[in-house]
Amino acid sequence: MISEGDLVLVYVDERRSRVVRVVKDKTLHTDRGYLRLGELVGLEWGAKVRLSTGVAAYVLKPTLTDLMLRLFRRATQVIYPKDIAYMILQSNVGEGSRVVEAGVGTGFLTAVLAWFVGRSGRVYGYEINDEYVKVASVNLESVGLSDRVLIKNKDITQGIDESDLDAVFLDMPNPWDVFPHLGSSLKPSSPVIMFVPSVNQVLRVLEHVKEFRRLVNVNVSEIILREFQTCPDALRPKSVGVTHTGYIITSRLTKE
Ligand SMILES: C[S@@+](CC[C@H](N)C(=O)[O-])C[C@H]1O[C@@H](n2cnc3c(N)ncnc32)[C@H](O)[C@@H]1O
Repeated sequence: MISEGDLVLVYVDERRSRVVRVVKDKTLHTDRGYLRLGELVGLEWGAKVRLSTGVAAYVLKPTLTDLMLRLFRRATQVIYPKDIAYMILQSNVGEGSRVVEAGVGTGFLTAVLAWFVGRSGRVYGYEINDEYVKVASVNLESVGLSDRVLIKNKDITQGIDESDLDAVFLDMPNPWDVFPHLGSSLKPSSPVIMFVPSVNQVLRVLEHVKEFRRLVNVNVSEIILREFQTCPDALRPKSVGVTHTGYIITSRLTKE
């Protein structure tokens, strides 16, 4: 059942679906009509409702991806779900993991990490821009994940405060400047996962990996996702979409 205060994905069609919080006196306006949100209280998830014009809509329970893409305020470039999914799987992060992440930016990756580490895990986020710290904090609060995350307004190249970590994630222009701090903060054998938007940065990472000598099992990947339009009469890839996101570098820290 939908209760007051719940976040709901009001789905009209692919172009008209919005995540809203159910507040009794609020109204959702769309170009197909409006919906009084108070009327959603007590409905079952997935129920069909009618906009003021009679157009049908469905009230769906938002996934974490829905919340990130449709509710979060974006302040920076973000890591897209297709890349995050691969990064998470390669990192082996799960219930109870303790991980460090930099930079936090909008908090897309932070939210997914918080989701996967669960109630008993912890995400320590480093972000040099205090404006982004605020944006990410509000975003995480809005989806109820902030109690699993500690965001610090700190430059991670100056050091990592935590030790015995299970993984480190770096989405920042110069991840190689964090390498000197990995040995004292990360459990040996644990993954170091980097995301960089340009090939030039991949090359610099690889040069520094060679010099640093404590990262092995290094892999560089690009995840290409091709979305299709779902029209049965013209089933084909969408003609417009996100064409480039970035490169994922996965690696493992050795003992010495
Ligand atoms: C592309 S954004 C991160 C986006 C984030 N991964 C997401 O999915 O929403 C890169 C962030 O790194 C931060 N940053 C850059 N250098 C940093 C450093 N030395 N320490 C901490 N944060 C840093 C920037 O301020 C910026 O917010």
